[in-house]
Amino acid sequence: MSKIVVNGGKRLFGDIKISGAKNSTLKIMAAALLTDKPVILRNVPDITDVRIMIDVLRELGVEVETVGDGDIHITTSKTLKSRAPYHLVNQMRASVVVLGPLLARLGEAQFAMPGGCNIGSRKIDLHIRGLELMGAEIKIRHGYIEAKADKLCGADIHLAFPSVGATENLMMAAVLAKGKTWIRNAAKEPEILDLAKCLNEMGAKVSGAGTDTIFIHGVSKLHGVDYTIMPDRIETGTYMVAGAITNGEIFLKGARGDHLEIVISKLRQIGLEVNCYSDGIELKSKGKILSTNISTLPYAGFPTDLQAPFMALLSLAKGSSVITENVFENRFVYIDELRTLGSKIDTESHHAIVHGSQSLVGAKVKAPDLRGGAALVIAGLASKGITEISDIFHIDRGYDSMVKKLSSIGADIRRTKSSTNLQYINFNQAPRANIPTAR
Ligand code: EPU
Repeated sequence: MSKIVVNGGKRLFGDIKISGAKNSTLKIMAAALLTDKPVILRNVPDITDVRIMIDVLRELGVEVETVGDGDIHITTSKTLKSRAPYHLVNQMRASVVVLGPLLARLGEAQFAMPGGCNIGSRKIDLHIRGLELMGAEIKIRHGYIEAKADKLCGADIHLAFPSVGATENLMMAAVLAKGKTWIRNAAKEPEILDLAKCLNEMGAKVSGAGTDTIFIHGVSKLHGVDYTIMPDRIETGTYMVAGAITNGEIFLKGARGDHLEIVISKLRQIGLEVNCYSDGIELKSKGKILSTNISTLPYAGFPTDLQAPFMALLSLAKGSSVITENVFENRFVYIDELRTLGSKIDTESHHAIVHGSQSLVGAKVKAPDLRGGAALVIAGLASKGITEISDIFHIDRGYDSMVKKLSSIGADIRRTKSSTNLQYINFNQAPRANIPTAR
């Protein structure tokens, strides 16, 4: 099993290119099921979740060709199958977004009921209820969702919570439904807009994406598309935090400041200089990190996916911060691992009180999930000596070439299959950067 080994204390300096957005790519790949014409996607990140989605599509009878350089070609032939099996769905919960497109295209879909995952129970009741309102008959039998609809019809759907996945699934089902659909209290994440933009380029009629009411006028057919995926705002935020925690100066090529307004305003508030340009975002540290309070919320609130990286950063802030997780019930699982590195964090229910400390010290830790794993890498960048992170398959799910990118801007970081004998590390000799200290 591969591990990431970080020798902390190096200041990050230089440019990184931001990859295409994971959470946009996966949904747009599912959107390819809505047409029998070729779909070309560009700027697709090289991550495990994309590979799993490729397997899901292939299992459904779709031809997927990876062309290199982030391009994939998808052709959904007439022999499309309607059953998404457990062994694949179980690997990636996000594959539930094939449900809407399959139902719209074939009039039926059987989808293994996705279980919970490390970050929470992650129900799909809103997806199901919305599809039922569009005329689908849905039964749950032998662990499978069995959905049928001779013809989906437009509906007025009010989501009880602005679920990202439900908004996407229903939007994709509605583009080929008969008549008009309104999705109210819709999620407003930039990935929703990216999906709507791609669907419109395929001939759909979707308006209002990015606001809380999305209107879809169903059409009878979609055509192929050549579409470039938007930059990953969570990868961008993760590297901004990595730059901040190492007192660095970095430029994130291709990143979009308008997708990260609240994150950038928090970074400025805690002492970073952040400049947004048309071709990327520049982050400059000023040597000290101040404390702040963060509360995660649906977009345009603070993203839950950046809660863990900020927890690592605020571990080295001057003073105490309170971080509240409002989106997923189990997104603090990595905190014990951060504590192993010396973070002083108390938790109470969905609140974490982070007492900024002077320094962190490297240790062996285990990534419990994707963003928690990224937080451990970030903490390792600022820890004295060696941090060894295991279970990095979680990190590979969502970060394209993380180790390569960080080492290209000065991090002492590598992947290895062998274990590090930490007792031989002389922490006093480990090189230290001018990393922000607490007081
Ligand atoms: N929820 C329900 N019922 C539903 C759907 C959701 O109760 O039918 C609840 C969930 O249990 C959860 C909350 O609503 O507590 C938010 O879920 P949502 O549906 O909005 O999230 P998602 O579509 O499952 C996507 C991203 C997540 C990201 C969230 C929130 C993908 C593949 N995943 O998940 O990304 O955290 O939106 O922004 O797009 C990640 O990248 O690490 C990640 C987890």
